[in-house]
Amino acid sequence: MNQVILKMAIFLDTGSIAEIEKYLKMGVIRGVTTNPTILLKDGVTGGKEAIKKRSIEIAHLIDPYPLSVEVTTNNYDLMIQQAREYATWAKNINVKITIHGPEGELENLAAIKEISQKYNIPVNATAMMSAQQCLLAAMAGATYVSLFGGRVNNMGYNSCEEIRKLRKVLDSQGLKAKIILGSTREVLNIIEWLEAGADIVTVTPDLIKGMIVHPYSKETVQMFLRDAAKSEQ
Ligand code: E4P
Repeated sequence: MNQVILKMAIFLDTGSIAEIEKYLKMGVIRGVTTNPTILLKDGVTGGKEAIKKRSIEIAHLIDPYPLSVEVTTNNYDLMIQQAREYATWAKNINVKITIHGPEGELENLAAIKEISQKYNIPVNATAMMSAQQCLLAAMAGATYVSLFGGRVNNMGYNSCEEIRKLRKVLDSQGLKAKIILGSTREVLNIIEWLEAGADIVTVTPDLIKGMIVHPYSKETVQMFLRDAAKSEQ
């Protein structure tokens, strides 16, 4: 499946239709990422049918921008089956597969390879905490490699250092995977991660709002409007 991959910068990390519509209208997002936790938080209950319904709604809303939808199993055959099914929902859906299973099971990389290379379905390899995990996922064929920068920082490591290392090694090895930074915790993360070499930062809606609104801008706008009103008197 061919999906157009442009310079992307900012994705929205949400399952909320209202939030997606809001930022899409402003022209400041280029894709959406979800995971089972985000969908649950945004009111998606009712199992696979509910995930399908919300995913199709989001995919159509943001078309041609990409939407990441995560599999809900770590069983090898079921991961492949779900990935193939998700790919039929909309042409701009890519499938999230975690780097390994809940106990460190290793077959996920083989699933990433099969889904992306045999079935030609774009994969977003996810739940990664290091450049080395991302390198292997890129080698297996992932279109996107998702590094959870906030969690990396929480563990006491420097997310920007991991991004710089990853950028360098992907470029030097000619690996085309796009680096997504997720797990945003602070407004500062967006610019610092892009500057360190991420292709995309997937941002929670509240942090995008934090990027836009500045107290001094507020004060300045208030001054303009006050003086405009005075000049009409
Ligand atoms: C990224 O794609 C993930 O959906 C997400 O950013 C994880 O963030 P968390 O660490 O807040 O769970």
